Amino acid sequence: MHVPDIIIAIDGYSSTGKSSFAKLIAKEFSFLYLDSGAMYRAVTLFAMRNGMISEEGAVDTGSLNDALQSLDIHFGKGADGWHTFIGEECVDQDIRTIGVSSNVSPVAVIPEVRRYVDTKLVEYGRAGRVVMDGRDIGTTVFPNADIKIFMVADDNVRAERRLKEMRASGQEADFATVLANLKSRDYIDSHRETSPLRQAEDAVVLDNTDMTLEDQMEWIKALIKSRYGE
Ligand code: CDP
Repeated sequence: MHVPDIIIAIDGYSSTGKSSFAKLIAKEFSFLYLDSGAMYRAVTLFAMRNGMISEEGAVDTGSLNDALQSLDIHFGKGADGWHTFIGEECVDQDIRTIGVSSNVSPVAVIPEVRRYVDTKLVEYGRAGRVVMDGRDIGTTVFPNADIKIFMVADDNVRAERRLKEMRASGQEADFATVLANLKSRDYIDSHRETSPLRQAEDAVVLDNTDMTLEDQMEWIKALIKSRYGE
């Protein structure tokens, strides 16, 4: 199928399968896939490692904002796709822990952090043929994205998916903790002042509670065909 040089923005709640879907889209259409959440997670990991987040979860915003001036977080291309780096270090694994998940949403509310990440994302997206997932891609990062998708799914299904993913990567976690983390992040993400998680007016909702990834690919192909022809 021929897909024109468009930008596809996928936003939605935690663990709705945005990144799995975006990765498959990138593979099938030869698009660049960028995971904006990985950037927020890397900033959070950096802040945790440098004592900028207390045991109670309070963020030392002043120190973090100062550190952003010289902080080098970037995506780097490997043989098997893109990876997230802090300086020379690949942090793909370390940013997926429940510790980072617990602290990331309070870090992502900080306007300076959002500006830091947004500038980088816009730069990466400049080349076009991009699929990017996050919370504010269709509303803030790429308000002119050609296709905007807003993903939702049942809470319990989302928690089960995340639990499975964590166990597959060797992390132990229990259902209740994972579910509580998803709900807490959804709340903070939707209620923050700077670019909150919300459905863009021109976004199409995709509820994938009962859908497989293959179903989702059929769905997006039909959407692209309806807009751009064969
Ligand atoms: O994979 P999951 O949906 O659980 O989360 P993620 O995409 O890795 O994003 C982690 C967190 O980063 C979110 O809960 C948000 O607090 C923040 N985030 C954001 O504020 N804006 C984005 N564009 C992407 C992520």
